[in-house]
Amino acid sequence: MIQLTQVHKSLGGQEILRGIDLHIREGESVVLMGPSGAGKSVILRHIVGLLSPDKGEVKVEGRPIQRLDRNELSALRKDMGYLFQHAALINWLNVFENVALPLRECTNFKEKEIREKVGKVLEQVRLLEAINKFPSQLSGGMQKRVGLARALVTEPRIILYDEPEAGLDPEMTTDILHLLNRLKQEIKPTTLTVTHSLDCATKLGDRIAVFEQGRILLDAPLPEVLASNHPRVRSLLGIAQ
Ligand SMILES: Nc1ncnc2c1ncn2[C@@H]1O[C@H](COP(=O)(O)OP(=O)(O)OP(=O)(O)O)[C@@H](O)[C@H]1O
Ligand SMILES: [Mg+2]
Repeated sequence: MIQLTQVHKSLGGQEILRGIDLHIREGESVVLMGPSGAGKSVILRHIVGLLSPDKGEVKVEGRPIQRLDRNELSALRKDMGYLFQHAALINWLNVFENVALPLRECTNFKEKEIREKVGKVLEQVRLLEAINKFPSQLSGGMQKRVGLARALVTEPRIILYDEPEAGLDPEMTTDILHLLNRLKQEIKPTTLTVTHSLDCATKLGDRIAVFEQGRILLDAPLPEVLASNHPRVRSLLGIAQ
């Protein structure tokens, strides 16, 4: 479903990805963990086609993403939800229009259907009351939830979550993780989640890939990673030595 093969990328004169191999099968939930600044968001941006590798290949649904034309990329994006790390909302559009954007860009839904779908997803992230507000009128955690609503509104089969729990209070974190877990059980999307939270990783991941200094140190099923003796892996995950 998602396949990175020997992906190399330098940015700002720095080698960020030094040969990443990552294969996510259909319906699988993989969590990517690693230190701040390592390049986790850079990996996600390669999968959605916002960055291209210097060397190596990124395939989504069997198709090499860097060789798709605009139409093919747009069709693929309909199938792919992306929660940006910093929400990345459009400041001059209200919450409703921000969330409706992927539906307007990638589907032919009528206004009534768009209203229904946006309403439903805003209810799921508990933000229906903010539907007419603008991003500058929202807290960071609220913006993040609007970003999540926008990622989910097309009911994509592939979802990339960049730190879904970051900036949320503990109660809202529990709520959102519960929602993502429910989607995982009911819809079984293929997901890649970046997180610094072991709690989030254990709730959402079938498999964990631990990434540092441009390479994947360990990529294994959750119980195996939690039991790993690798000192760097234990340290990066914040597991007691
Ligand atoms: N467009 C860019 N131009 C130059 N450097 C970049 C660019 N995007 C990212 N970088 C650099 O790539 C490195 C990895 O960034 P990235 O955002 O992927 O880190 P991260 O692992 O997601 O960290 P965090 O956990 O803090 O979000 C950083 O050193 C960053 O400065
Ligand atoms: Mg990041």
